[in-house]
Amino acid sequence: MTDTLQPDVVVPRLRGRFGKPYLYAAECPSTQDLLRASAQPEGAVAAAEHQTAGRGRSGRTWYDTAGSALLFSILLRPAPEGPPAPQLSLVAALAVAEAVEHAAGVDAQVKWPNDVWVERRKVAGILLEAAESSVVCGIGVNVNQSADELPAGRIPPTSLRVLTGMQHDRATVLADLLAALEAHYETWQRTGLADLLTALERRNALRGTPVGVGEVAGIAAGIAADGRLAVVTAAGEELFVESGEVGVEVRLPD
Ligand code: BTN
Repeated sequence: MTDTLQPDVVVPRLRGRFGKPYLYAAECPSTQDLLRASAQPEGAVAAAEHQTAGRGRSGRTWYDTAGSALLFSILLRPAPEGPPAPQLSLVAALAVAEAVEHAAGVDAQVKWPNDVWVERRKVAGILLEAAESSVVCGIGVNVNQSADELPAGRIPPTSLRVLTGMQHDRATVLADLLAALEAHYETWQRTGLADLLTALERRNALRGTPVGVGEVAGIAAGIAADGRLAVVTAAGEELFVESGEVGVEVRLPD
């Protein structure tokens, strides 16, 4: 079957409420904009084969090769009295890591607070954009790009195809990812990150890595129940840092 994200292929694979309704564009500036300020219900998904103005974090551009990457956004409406919305990047990263593991048979790591790595290379990124009563969670997963098609980044990228030498069915990866995200999101709404911490910590890419976060520099340790990252300074002090840009000194395997 041709690899496509068209509704007739994706919708029959969906197992829960996430992905309904499913909005599809062959091309659009950014799937984030298809859901921003939208009246759609929670779980609505917008997916595209190609974005002409894909956004990454910190004003960066998210490039893709048409028809190769999994590019989608999902509309979430977390309860205002529930856990803090920025924690959603960890909830989503866990779901992405599990979907990548399932698809490619590899170990995936969550790079706090919002990337997914395999073999210290970035395979997926997550962008949260909050509006008044909703959060649009955008996810880009490198699926079928060849090594030449991957854009250079601060963290070297990889794709499922580069990792396995095979083409992967993006619709299946999307359906698996949405099922995992729905399950983890519901857990998070009930209990915050507490019940997800073991699975997150098992995939904590930064543990033991030298990092700098704002003024704090040291060796990254665990992820706390409130989503902060513990960093042990040279003086042996354990500090907890909020989500933010992490300057990571990445050591890649030979
Ligand atoms: C990052 O790593 O900086 C976050 C990348 C997020 C990319 C996805 S692709 C689908 C959605 N639409 C966008 O414009 N960005 C997100």
